Amino acid sequence: MKLNIFANQEQLHEAAAQTIIELLRQKPDAVLGLATGGTPVGIYEALAAAVRRGEVSFARATTFNLDEYVGLPPGHPETYRFYMEQHLFRHIDIPPEQTHIPDGNAPELERECERYERLLETAGRIDLMLLGLGHNGHIGFNEPGRVLHSRTHVAVLHPQTRKANARFFRTPEEVPTRAITMGLGSILKARTILLVVKGADKADIVHRALTGPLTTECPASLLQLHPHLVVMLDEEAATKIKRAASG
Ligand code: PGA
Repeated sequence: MKLNIFANQEQLHEAAAQTIIELLRQKPDAVLGLATGGTPVGIYEALAAAVRRGEVSFARATTFNLDEYVGLPPGHPETYRFYMEQHLFRHIDIPPEQTHIPDGNAPELERECERYERLLETAGRIDLMLLGLGHNGHIGFNEPGRVLHSRTHVAVLHPQTRKANARFFRTPEEVPTRAITMGLGSILKARTILLVVKGADKADIVHRALTGPLTTECPASLLQLHPHLVVMLDEEAATKIKRAASG
């Protein structure tokens, strides 16, 4: 594992964006795994700025998002498709047909999961998978519990996740109860995983995920198995890991 700690979020966003930019320069047709949520917004801003300055192109890249809510109407501002358009896709030069997000309105969700998994297989391995970390240790919507799934599947959102995401909705009841998410196996197949974690409220969980036992109760702990895991933390998220390392 390669651990990088940044003095502030701006530096972290730039560094994470730079990792993606360098990959695209070396491999213009790279396959990228992308995440939503609060964590990547600044990274996407930095990528959009780099495209505007002509420093990088996504014209030949392919992207796969980790997850999508089930049942939100198409175009709903909290769908992850909307989020991706708003924060990244409309600002970069990627052709829409090269961007993939599960369809949370598919008539048969199981078939949609299979379709997504097949698309992933057809694209070859994800070169770089960008991940955030949930307060409960989830990755995508792979929630803590007795079992984890390897492949893309329909997940029931953990109450803590619905509570955390309620800040984006008018009322907590509006937060969907299910989502389609890549499984841990689909995620771990990526050549490189870039885990980005920010904020004091994640210091405990990132410490547990990266130094604790591998357990389904903390899905992110399985990332310890990955041979090319790059972790980027801001100072606040790193406090517990640094304390543990120094004493
Ligand atoms: P956040 O979510 O980036 O909004 O904190 C991360 C996650 O829940 O995976």
